[in-house]
Amino acid sequence: MKKSYQKYIPFEGVKLNNRTWPDKKIERAPIWCSVDLRDGNQALVNPMNLEQKLRFFKMICDVGIKEIEVGFPSASETEYEILRTLIDDNLIPDDVTIQVLVQAREHLIRKTFDAIKGAKNVIVHFYNSTSTLQRKVVFETDMLGVIGIAVDGAKLIKSLADEMKRSTGMNIRYEYSPESFSGTETDNAVWICNEVMKALGANEDEKVIINLPNTVEMSTPNTYADQIEYFCRRLENKKAAIISVHPHNDRGTATAATELAIMAGAQRVEGTIFGNGERTGNTDIMNVAMNMFSQGVDPLLDFSDINAIRDVYEECTNMRIHERHPYVGELVFTAFSGSHQDAINKGTAFMQKTNGDFWEIPYLPIDPADVGREYEPIIRINSQSGKGGAAYVMQQHGFSLPKQMHAEFGSLVKEACDKLGREISPEEVLALFKHEYIELSEATHEVPEPCKLGKYRMHEERHNGDDVTVEFDGTLIYQGKATEISGSGNGPIDAFFNALHKVGFENYDFISYSEHAIAAGSDSKAVSYIRLKHNDKEIFGVGIDNNISVASIKGILSAINRQKMKGIRKQNGAKS
Ligand code: KIV
Ligand code: ZN
Repeated sequence: MKKSYQKYIPFEGVKLNNRTWPDKKIERAPIWCSVDLRDGNQALVNPMNLEQKLRFFKMICDVGIKEIEVGFPSASETEYEILRTLIDDNLIPDDVTIQVLVQAREHLIRKTFDAIKGAKNVIVHFYNSTSTLQRKVVFETDMLGVIGIAVDGAKLIKSLADEMKRSTGMNIRYEYSPESFSGTETDNAVWICNEVMKALGANEDEKVIINLPNTVEMSTPNTYADQIEYFCRRLENKKAAIISVHPHNDRGTATAATELAIMAGAQRVEGTIFGNGERTGNTDIMNVAMNMFSQGVDPLLDFSDINAIRDVYEECTNMRIHERHPYVGELVFTAFSGSHQDAINKGTAFMQKTNGDFWEIPYLPIDPADVGREYEPIIRINSQSGKGGAAYVMQQHGFSLPKQMHAEFGSLVKEACDKLGREISPEEVLALFKHEYIELSEATHEVPEPCKLGKYRMHEERHNGDDVTVEFDGTLIYQGKATEISGSGNGPIDAFFNALHKVGFENYDFISYSEHAIAAGSDSKAVSYIRLKHNDKEIFGVGIDNNISVASIKGILSAINRQKMKGIRKQNGAKS
């Protein structure tokens, strides 16, 4: 018995000898043409209304696209009205050309010319299907019949355009699409396009756009590229043509097909801003453009505020952008995995240190700021995240945790995620940090009797220039009672430690500390990270104060209280 996949006929590509496109690079932007308002719109459950189309049109103009297919005015009254509003209300910028689609049929062509009257720059885009399959099952005609339809349409269009140009001074250009080009024998596509170009009187000064649609994506992108290169080699009056491509995304490879087609000779690309279009969509212009951008090629389009463009798109089409959509999806500048977070963190530090000219951050193909996304949390924290991620988030909050502290804080964050069973936000990471390290001087069930400082005095004496002695005297409140302590040392930390050692804290040893300033409201404070050893185990504490010496002392007390807290947590865990 035949298996279900055996009912499909494998695609036979064109035979192209010595193809050159695989060695080509994309070095400049093609001419872009947006078909959002036609191909995109006709694929919507609820097509856009007038207001939505006008808003979308403005957004396309702002992106910098200069050729915009605005509709199929002969096919629907709404499309006709929208086109008239654009023209009558002077909403089309002078450097933008509107494009209208029409089938190569007389009454539709005449209605289309009524619709475009008064526009400054227009492309009349006509088409008929040429594919082997459609000739067989839809039109029941041969190539000569199909060529006849296209040539008759071309002659009528040229005569109506000549007349309109003469009487109005309008600038009218032509585009012809052999619809389902990739499903047409490529020699037949060349044949019909040669005939259409002759009928339109194409020449180097009045070039005709020859648009070669991948109406239904047929095979791997290389086969489309082969067809484009083959077509370009054989078209008779190539210099009088602008070769355009119009890929659809049935196999999910429209972006690749477009890129290979450009390498194969396409000079113009038709597509939609985020790929909306019939079935699985059209080529995503933003995706192709930003791919160029990421290779150091100017796409001549502006996606620097991609979220605003996404908002217009979503509000006008009622479609949603997927979280993983290249460049625009909610999650595409986010790293959950620990090793990725760590590498991004290191890449960011490397770029800051070297101040280089190029973007060199692993896992981020472009700088999110280039599409206006600099304020998003690049790193998000869940139980998969590593120490680098938590440290990065703290860095964003203004705290540069010392490297040795990353593992300790990272595991606290991981524990919190596991406990909650979800991602935690940057604000929650900060709250956890404050709870674990800073807010320990007030009694809680975890540290019922925290160790804290009452009144104190610190006095510094300098001898022979650089030699310093610090005297510390103060009250330590511990286990509910106040104890007077005093000590001296070569700095505030040493003096305080020596004072602590005298009253029963001998099993704490000081290892190291680091400090930096943090902005807190209008004034600046110091944060001190203290690393202590308690019975051979390391523990960190953090202190914040206006005075750097006091911040360090608070950091020591924070480490001691954390040690107590750990003990109490362990006991509670053992009981439960
Ligand atoms: O996909 C297609 O072939 C089209 C044509 C009308 C250009 O949209
Ligand atoms: Zn299409």
